[in-house]
Amino acid sequence: MVVRSFRFIDLEMPGEFANSWITPVSHFYVRNHVFQPAPVNGREWKLAVQGEVQRPLVLSLSDLARLNGHSVTNTLECAGNGRAFQNPKVAGIQWQRGAVGTARFSGPRLGQILERAGVKSTGKHVMFRGLDQAPGKVPPFIRSIPIEKALDPDTLLATHMNGAPLSDYHGFPARALVPGWVGAASVKWVSEIRVLEKEFDGNFMKPGYRLPNRPVQPGDVVNPEDTHALTTLSVKSIIAAPGEGARLNLSPVRICGAAWAGEADVRKVEISTDGGRSWALAMLGKDQEHYAWRLWSYDWMPKEAGEYVICSRASDDQGRVQPEIAVWNPSGYLYNAVDRVKVHVI
Ligand code: MTE
Repeated sequence: MVVRSFRFIDLEMPGEFANSWITPVSHFYVRNHVFQPAPVNGREWKLAVQGEVQRPLVLSLSDLARLNGHSVTNTLECAGNGRAFQNPKVAGIQWQRGAVGTARFSGPRLGQILERAGVKSTGKHVMFRGLDQAPGKVPPFIRSIPIEKALDPDTLLATHMNGAPLSDYHGFPARALVPGWVGAASVKWVSEIRVLEKEFDGNFMKPGYRLPNRPVQPGDVVNPEDTHALTTLSVKSIIAAPGEGARLNLSPVRICGAAWAGEADVRKVEISTDGGRSWALAMLGKDQEHYAWRLWSYDWMPKEAGEYVICSRASDDQGRVQPEIAVWNPSGYLYNAVDRVKVHVI
């Protein structure tokens, strides 16, 4: 893993691992905004469900295990993935391709828990508080999602990842799993679920994790009131192999990678081996689930030695196409320009 920050642990998956439909937990990126909590004792852990509900609840891990379980294979991507490629540069963790991974998350549906608590008609947003520790003036990582997404049958309070209890890095004993949405929505180490009348008012909802409502240029002042909270991921593909700067023999080359589209489904991936002048269809992998990435591959026979720019471009069933240039925004969120690697055929 590539260590992007030590103070609060941030680990990036090397891009070449985007060649496996399920990302092993050992290669799954880690994004922490504050100090990770000390390992939680699952027997002592309690979850409070309160706010705009008729019956506030306190649940243990064994209470969660008694609820019906559901599994969702989801591609989780940090909103800041690809920030390193933003031009002009923006501040923040300089993620390249690998703040993304796909895992099978399992646990009770959030909707089932909320149903037990009985959401009042005034309950419009659902807030999650984690057990992680914010030092000094760093604000706590608390976020909320609208009630409609909270009640979606695929939104979970996940206790398992790839068939095993969540690891400490990924939120043991329970995390929100908000499929198709930016990773920030999936709060880890949840200790409180609170139903609110309004979107949670805190740093990581505003000004954090928002996009301007209109195009902005570097240096423009953005009024937080003229922004909206990030929700679904963009359409995007990344090239897992060959890697940037690879030296290849003049023989067949398998170009491969992954493509995803948040709440939409990937329709096609196109590959260019001439820097984007001409495109051909890649083959999509057989593994397929609604919120999960599609692996793709393309067999290429370079005609002669030389330098080539390989590009990948995904399209989805909502008509979205990976753009040539990503929309610039001050935090470098949702970078999804056509992916490019330069290779040398010798
Ligand atoms: N939950 C808590 N409690 N604290 C955090 O810092 N980071 C969020 C989200 N949930 C975060 C959190 C962000 S920004 C992302 S992208 C995902 O967790 C990353 O999940 P992972 O570390 O399991 O890959």
